[in-house]
Parts: sequence; structure tokens; C-alpha cells
Amino acid sequence: MTILVTGGAGFIGSNFIFHMMEAHPEDRIVCLDALTYAGNLSTLESVLDAGGFRFVKGDIADRDLVYSLFEEERPDVVVNFAAESHVDRSIEDPEIFLRTNIIGTSVLMDASRRCGVKRFHQVSTDEVYGDLPLDRPDLFFTEDTPLHTSSPYSSSKAGADLLVLAYHRTYGLPVTISRCSNNYGPYQFPEKLIPLMIINALSDRPLPVYGRGENVRDWLYVEDHCKAIDLIIHKGRVGQVYNIGGHNEMRNIDIVRLVLEELGKPESLITYVADRKGHDLRYAIDPAKMHSELGWLPETMFRDGIVKTIRWYLENESWWRPIISGEYMNYYDRMYSGKVKA
Ligand code: NAD
Ligand code: DAU
Repeated sequence: MTILVTGGAGFIGSNFIFHMMEAHPEDRIVCLDALTYAGNLSTLESVLDAGGFRFVKGDIADRDLVYSLFEEERPDVVVNFAAESHVDRSIEDPEIFLRTNIIGTSVLMDASRRCGVKRFHQVSTDEVYGDLPLDRPDLFFTEDTPLHTSSPYSSSKAGADLLVLAYHRTYGLPVTISRCSNNYGPYQFPEKLIPLMIINALSDRPLPVYGRGENVRDWLYVEDHCKAIDLIIHKGRVGQVYNIGGHNEMRNIDIVRLVLEELGKPESLITYVADRKGHDLRYAIDPAKMHSELGWLPETMFRDGIVKTIRWYLENESWWRPIISGEYMNYYDRMYSGKVKA
């Protein structure tokens, strides 16, 4: 079978490609990625020349390009990872989030309808549910929790989810949606909490913690997310939404302290900065449906996963060093210089 993976030069998409090529070597993987600031072809270096793999540079919102790629490849399955994915950037400038995350998704679904794709899988996020209060640890997001978004990013993802469900009901497109909690692991772009803290700590730069660092995220090792998506595209029921998460809630400040401890760096590097606008307090996924229907359970304990991740960044400076020069530093100064508290 041919699987079109969009956004495969990014963090989770690349990990998914590696997982699929190992778990299903008989399948052909076509990766479509626009190589935005977050996409990195060097991530895919080890598979670029492999048989059964093809990389295509292109924008999912470019209808002509997408239609001709679908005509040529006639994919059986589409897994849509391509997105603008960073909340802070969406607060700075929402428009590209609407174009890629909503329009791009609809173009892919139009192409999928034309080609009779057997499964369109939308990679969504727990952020579509909004947030939970910090003082109600008994509450979790289930698939029936109403969509209630906070940022332009999460709103664009929720908009896409609604469109995906509408294409199923209106046109009968065989869709599934997964909504996962925060991922961490190799190849994550260092604008996100964990890689940013690792790289800043390694460079003895301040570690910028928003607000008081008490916001809670539910962390999942990226390979566990990839395995869950593999199960959904093979065994998930069409028209269904699946929540993915490992019941691993942690406060941001505890993550940051753990990174410092693992790297043997002082806590004096922690710098509290102005809070993110509209900052979601707590995410917590109830993954019971993934377990009861598909038998999925996370395999990597947080302590093991974070140690593996830190070691990966230590051993792969050649991957991240080029990223943090030039444009990234402009972004960093723009985002953080105004946030530092007096
Ligand atoms: P990422 O930012 O690391 O990668 C996104 C990839 O999409 C990049 O390779 C980029 O070049 C590509 N891309 C962006 N715009 C494109 C366009 N118009 N056309 C083609 N390619 C384009 O993102 P990620 O963290 O790997 O997230 C992947 C997906 O998973 C996203 O849809 C995100 O919403 C979702 N998700 C992420 C997390 C997380 O913790 N990172 C958790 C749950 C869900
Ligand atoms: O929950 C899934 C979502 O997780 C995905 O849909 C998003 O694509 C992904 O980016 C992530 O969103 P978050 O906003 O939770 O991730 P981020 O790494 O940006 O921030 C995690 C927490 O850390 C959040 O509470 C904000 C805080 N933070 C983040 C940065 C970058 C800081 O305190 N300092 C920082 O410098």
C-alpha cells in the first residue's frame, strides 16, 4: 500500500516515517513537506535514498501540486501531520495557521475524495479541548469533551477537525482523527519547551519559564504516538476520534528542573518571564478508548524517555546547531526579549 505522509520532515512526521518503514517495510511511503522553518530535510537523510520512499517538496494548500501528486501516486492512505504547530507563533501571526491547518487540510481531503483514498487520517491535538483547571485532577479530556479552544493555533486545528468530520458525513470520506497530548523526543524543533530548555542549558543561557511554571502538560514519548497512529490507520473505526496520551502530567517547572539536573546545570539558569497570552492551564488526556478498542498502551516511561531525549540532543549537535543560527535567533530575540520581567 502507498501511504502519503504530509509534514514528514517535521518532528512527529519524521518519527512516524521511521516507525512505518521499520514496522511495514512492504509499504511505499511518499512524504510531502513544504520545508518551512520547522521542516528539515537532514532529518530524513537516512531514508532519502531508501527503496519504497519518496520525498516531495510542496505545500499542502497548493491545489494543483497536491492533485497532480495524488494522480501520480494514488495513495491508499493519507496521514496529515503538516501544520503550523507552535502556539507562540500563532499568537504573533495567525494567518499562516489558517491557511496551512484549515485550507491545506481541505485541499488534501478534496484530493483524497477524487482519488478514492481508503483512509484519511488527521493528526490533531488535545489543545482542541481547551484547558482544565489546575485544582481538579479528577477531570480529563475524553473524545466527547466539547471543543473549546484558546489560541489561534488550537482554533485552526479544531476548525480542521470539524471539516474532517464534515467531509465524512457529507461526502463519505473514510476519515479518522487522533488527538494527542504533548510529545517529546528526537528531532523536535527547539522552539518547543523540552528541546529549547535542553539547548539553552547546554549553552548556559537562561531558561525562560512562562508565568510561574505551574501549567501542566501531559507528556508522551513520540514513538508511542507514532505506534498509536499506526494502529488507528490499520484498525481504527472510520468516522471516529481517538485520544492519545499516557497519563503523564507534569508542571513545566518540574520538567525544567529535571533537564537541569540531568545535564548537571544550576537552577540559577531558570528565568521567569511574562506569561503566554491565553495560556492553557492544564491538559490531561483520557486514553481509555485507544486501550479498550485498539489495545494501545504507552511503552516508554517518562524518566526513560527524557533521558533518551537529552542524550539524543547531546549526541546530535550537528542536527540542531545549524537550526539555532540565523533566522532562529531573530525569532528567539523577537519572542523572548519583550518577555523578560524587569
Ligand atoms: P512540526 O512543526 O515539527 O512539523 C510540521 C511539518 O509540517 C514541518 O516539516 C513543516 O515543514 C511541514 N509543513 C508546514 N506547513 C506545511 C505546508 N503548508 N505544506 C506542507 N508541509 C508543511 O510539527 P510537529 O510537532 O511534528 O506536529 C505534527 C502534527 O502533530 C501537527 O499537525 C500538530 O498539530 C500535531 N500535534 C503535535 C503535538 C506535539 O506535541 N508536537 C501533539 C499533538 C499533535
Ligand atoms: O498538547 C499538544 C500540543 O503541544 C501540540 O498540539 C502543539 O503543536 C505543541 O507545540 C504543544 O503545545 P504547547 O503549547 O503545550 O507546547 P510548548 O512546548 O510550546 O509549551 C509547553 C509548555 O511550556 C507551555 O505551558 C508553555 C511553556 N513554555 C514554553 C516555552 C516554549 C515555557 O514556559 N517557556 C518556553 O520558552
